[in-house]
Amino acid sequence: MVSQSQSQSQASVPGHVCIIMDGNGRWAKKRLMPRSYGHRKGVETTRRAVDFFARAGVAHLTLFAFSSENWNRPAEEVSSLMELFMQSLRQYTAELHEQQIRIRFIGERSLFSEDLQRQIQQAESETGANRNMVLNIAANYGGQWDLVNASRRLAQQVRDGAIDPADIDQRLFAAHLSLGDSPDPDLFIRTGGEQRVSNFLLWQLAYTEFYFCETLWPDFSEADMAAALAEYNRRQRRYGKTGEQIEVAG
Ligand code: IPE
Ligand code: IPE
Ligand code: MG
Repeated sequence: MVSQSQSQSQASVPGHVCIIMDGNGRWAKKRLMPRSYGHRKGVETTRRAVDFFARAGVAHLTLFAFSSENWNRPAEEVSSLMELFMQSLRQYTAELHEQQIRIRFIGERSLFSEDLQRQIQQAESETGANRNMVLNIAANYGGQWDLVNASRRLAQQVRDGAIDPADIDQRLFAAHLSLGDSPDPDLFIRTGGEQRVSNFLLWQLAYTEFYFCETLWPDFSEADMAAALAEYNRRQRRYGKTGEQIEVAG
């Protein structure tokens, strides 16, 4: 029998949480409001989520803000999202910096406006030395893009004679991905009811625990965030071993 205090002390905080923040559009539609209103409310949830997971002791938080496929949305929605990224960076960078949070962007940024690229660059350099939590924002990110990009960089090194094809193993490949310097996510959260990966981190999710919930992103509360962490603590991570082997190792 595990006592209450024992089971609490065994509670482990995931080192890396990644989130598909989905459901902004449907949240707005239910209120007969434009989708852009849902995205604005979604940013408020995002701000609270960063605080919540930083306070919980999560060292890496990776948020899916805009997928490479989201360019296919109506032009008006894409431009309102771009405007919202700019505004949010202007509004929040200084306070995230005060909280010692390091901001990084992953994804193909060359398709963003020069203004936005500059803003991204500035947020990254201003917060680059912060050590409290790394906040990765996936913008114009796609897991397939990430894999192709890593392959291309390795192929280039082979062509330059810097490495041999036989040098390419899982460790070297992973190091060339966007989050090559970070541990893989322990916990994946997707709000909004869909149960799919939607081209988020493909390689890095190999052994991640998945948590799906119906709540639309603007409604995702601190209690919902805590519920995701509690569910994570009920999972047994086996990495191919048997449950008995894990229990013995404790
Ligand atoms: C997620 O919410 C935000 C982005 C993809 C930018 P959605 O906009 O996908 O919301 P739903 O899924 O249409 O409700
Ligand atoms: C995934 O959500 C991308 C982001 C949350 C940024 P989508 O709403 O684009 O995913 P699908 O299209 O439903 O798979
Ligand atoms: Mg969606």
